[in-house]
Amino acid sequence: MKSIIGLFIFIAISCCAFAQIPTRVLPLIPLPREVKSSNDNFILTNKTIIVLTNDKFKQEVDYLNNYLKKNYDFQLQIVSVLPTDGNYIFITQPDFEAGFMENYDLSINQNQIVFIAEGNAGLFYGIETLIQLMSLEKTQEVKIACVQINDAPRYQWRGMHLDCSRHFFTKEEVKTYIDYLAMYKFNVFHWHLTDDQGWRIEIKKYPLLTKVGSQRKETIIGKPKWDKNGEPSKDNKYDGIPYGGFYTQDDIKDIVSYAQLRHITIVPEIEMPGHSLAALAAFPQYSCTGGPFETFTKWGVTDDVYCAGNDSAFLFIQDILTEVIDLFPGKYIHIGGDECLKERWKVCPKCQKRIADEKLKNENELQSYFITRIEKFINSKGKQVIGWDEILEGGLAPNAAVMSWRGTGGGIAAAKQKHFVVMTPGKPCYFDHYQSKDKTKEPLAIGGFNPLDSVYAYDPTPKTLSEEEGKFIMGAQGNVWTEYITDFSKVQYMSMPRMAALSEALWTPKDKKNYKDFIVRLKLHSKLLDKMGVNYSKQFLSK
Ligand code: ACM
Ligand code: ZN
Repeated sequence: MKSIIGLFIFIAISCCAFAQIPTRVLPLIPLPREVKSSNDNFILTNKTIIVLTNDKFKQEVDYLNNYLKKNYDFQLQIVSVLPTDGNYIFITQPDFEAGFMENYDLSINQNQIVFIAEGNAGLFYGIETLIQLMSLEKTQEVKIACVQINDAPRYQWRGMHLDCSRHFFTKEEVKTYIDYLAMYKFNVFHWHLTDDQGWRIEIKKYPLLTKVGSQRKETIIGKPKWDKNGEPSKDNKYDGIPYGGFYTQDDIKDIVSYAQLRHITIVPEIEMPGHSLAALAAFPQYSCTGGPFETFTKWGVTDDVYCAGNDSAFLFIQDILTEVIDLFPGKYIHIGGDECLKERWKVCPKCQKRIADEKLKNENELQSYFITRIEKFINSKGKQVIGWDEILEGGLAPNAAVMSWRGTGGGIAAAKQKHFVVMTPGKPCYFDHYQSKDKTKEPLAIGGFNPLDSVYAYDPTPKTLSEEEGKFIMGAQGNVWTEYITDFSKVQYMSMPRMAALSEALWTPKDKKNYKDFIVRLKLHSKLLDKMGVNYSKQFLSK
């Protein structure tokens, strides 16, 4: 009955003002699958009523009410029957369940806003669309364009990453970042929690990990230089300022539930076997040499990695992963796997014994042994492994998904082997690269050049894959590495508006994408970014 009423209202709205009227420019990013608009508006006031006939959507309705409270200083009454007069927001489900949990329809005329969604995520995305349509002035009358929208995502993995190891961002900053993801309908937050320069997650069994590994005594100034032997140059300069920070398990639970409410799954990354110096500074016994080590104070990679011949190192990592798995309800655990130098393994008796005992050909196969052993453990806990594309070297672990960062070759190879893939090639998915050709006008970046238009143009599914192989491409992700991103304002600058452009590459149907049209919408949408206080790159304003 409820949904029949919904359908009736939907049809009634569909038949009126929308036909033939040229679509007005709406500040919507990512562009929905189908949008029509009229020149009319719905006026939302504190008299507007929310009609909710199914309690399963209460969480999303509360989210909308909280947004209104925060931004307009009023909330809406929630009732379960349609009112006889006044305007209202009606939330209902489709007549037939089709399993499209992220899809939604949103129809707005002068009197009614109607959401039709099967899943909570779908309704949430509809609400994010509604929020982007709201007039921005903090008044008691919020103007909303009359539209008819039918929407669905193009890809299932719409990810953004943040490196909280090289620089630490507070719990509130991480939540603000998650807000940006929610605004653009991303559904994965890849949280880079450990690296050579800092261990950022409390592990109850090993308090030394954060006591020692979350701190570094100082940080290099500018780009590191290396001498002919590959040793750090004597010319490197350091700031002499101790740096540190970590998230307690309570912080993490808080952030996980904050993300869940926004239909964002957090994929935690615990780096291994390389990028692990901060852990080894606290537990040098799990390296090949026994140390001692300091948490890394410069950028780049280190020779010292976990010893692949030491069973105790595996037990140590398994203990850590057990706590990580308990904290993060998502399906995937990211185990890193990138840039593991093999110098120590080549001369370590334990590593060499492992190679002999396991009849491995070389150190690449030893890395594969390492990842496969960890994968077995993670699978035994009901979770899946994802790792950077180096995990292909020496043979992929049987069930692992691959994150392709050194171009798209790793992702293509993995998809051909029927492994799931997330595309995040340095070009154009690394948002720590420059976004303007004139570097003198930009803050220091790691290098590269990934302007807004190339992010927008990105198509995650390589043409070389067959249709069947292409199904293994889950989606793509933007990465924000923070060697040179020292504070949250710079995180905003580097990620915005490239995050907006990527969202459209991941959500909007390919044939609906149009960069010029995106820029027109972005100019309107940037008023919302201004209101939110986002320090975004403003080059597009002069386009
Ligand atoms: C990476 O950028 N090392 C994954
Ligand atoms: Zn070793």
